[in-house]
Amino acid sequence: MRILITGGAGFIGSHLADSYLSKGDEVILLDNLSTGAKDNLGNSRGNCKLVNGDIRNSELVDDLVEKTDLVLHMAAALGVSTILDSPLESISTNIHGSEIVMMAAAKHGKRIIIASTSEIYGKNPKQPLGELDDRVIGSPQNIRWTYSDAKAIEEATATVLHQSKGLKVTTIRFFNTVGPRQTGQYGMVVPRFVQSAIRNEDIKVYGDGNQTRVFCHVSDAISAVIRLAETESTIGEVYNVGGIGEISINELAGKITSITKSKSNIRHIPYDQAYPFGFEDMQRRVPDTSKIQSAVDWKPVKLLEDIIQDVSDYFNSK
Ligand SMILES: NC(=O)c1ccc[n+]([C@@H]2O[C@H](COP(=O)([O-])OP(=O)(O)OC[C@H]3O[C@@H](n4cnc5c(N)ncnc54)[C@H](O)[C@@H]3O)[C@@H](O)[C@H]2O)c1
Repeated sequence: MRILITGGAGFIGSHLADSYLSKGDEVILLDNLSTGAKDNLGNSRGNCKLVNGDIRNSELVDDLVEKTDLVLHMAAALGVSTILDSPLESISTNIHGSEIVMMAAAKHGKRIIIASTSEIYGKNPKQPLGELDDRVIGSPQNIRWTYSDAKAIEEATATVLHQSKGLKVTTIRFFNTVGPRQTGQYGMVVPRFVQSAIRNEDIKVYGDGNQTRVFCHVSDAISAVIRLAETESTIGEVYNVGGIGEISINELAGKITSITKSKSNIRHIPYDQAYPFGFEDMQRRVPDTSKIQSAVDWKPVKLLEDIIQDVSDYFNSK
């Protein structure tokens, strides 16, 4: 098969490229290298071509989509810092860019997987979160929510194109996906903590650290994407993809210092010092993954300890 991966030089996209290349497929990556990097494609040679371009270039996207069998749409502007620092660029990429990619897939009748996010659920206190649960979102005046809003519009566009034009789309809502190649630069917590731990610098926990998350190893996330893409009955559906084991950010920091044998101290930074005024965080975010488990017999297998070890090995090797 020939596979187009938008955002293919990014964290999840580059791991997808490795998987398909190892199966003997041909892979084309469309990426503007805004948060992605050529370095991520170290193992991806041979049947892999990187097109340095933007998903908002409709002619380019149309041309690439026409020539492929499967589109994996991973390109997005994400990370709390990216969204807060470049809100207009982020909204434009996530809404306008995604519409261009999906319209091209609809026009050429191509199978497509789109990457959505657990941010969709906003601050809904119900846990675990199932695919049909409500979005509970703050004011659009609070820029922090624009990523969630943009991804919701992307999902809605996918649904409308599926119903009106027969778009063969499956939507994946990733919950905190972590692993080698993820950068801490844009606010992702595990790589940020691991890098501080390796350097024996203070680990900065935002807020009181009692907020909890569930982390999913990127290798589990990749196997979910591949199974969903192979299964026709998932077309038109939305699936949560997340890991196992809920942990507070304080406990996460402790586990990371212990696994990396770090001398780092844990320092708490109040939200109003870490983020612009009015920033809101979620106390818990726990995925219900029963839908994908029954659809394609997928469940996460990697533990948080594996994730931390792999991320630590990655940064040490750099
Ligand atoms: N990593 C997670 O925990 C997580 C959680 C929820 C959802 N997601 C979603 O998964 C997808 C992949 O995320 P990731 O973690 O690999 O992030 P990433 O930042 O590593 O990857 C995104 C890629 O898209 C590229 N990109 C951004 N804007 C572009 C544009 N206009 N044109 C072309 N390329 C562009 C970037 O350069 C980057 O390589 C995204 O859609 C994201 O919203 C990720």
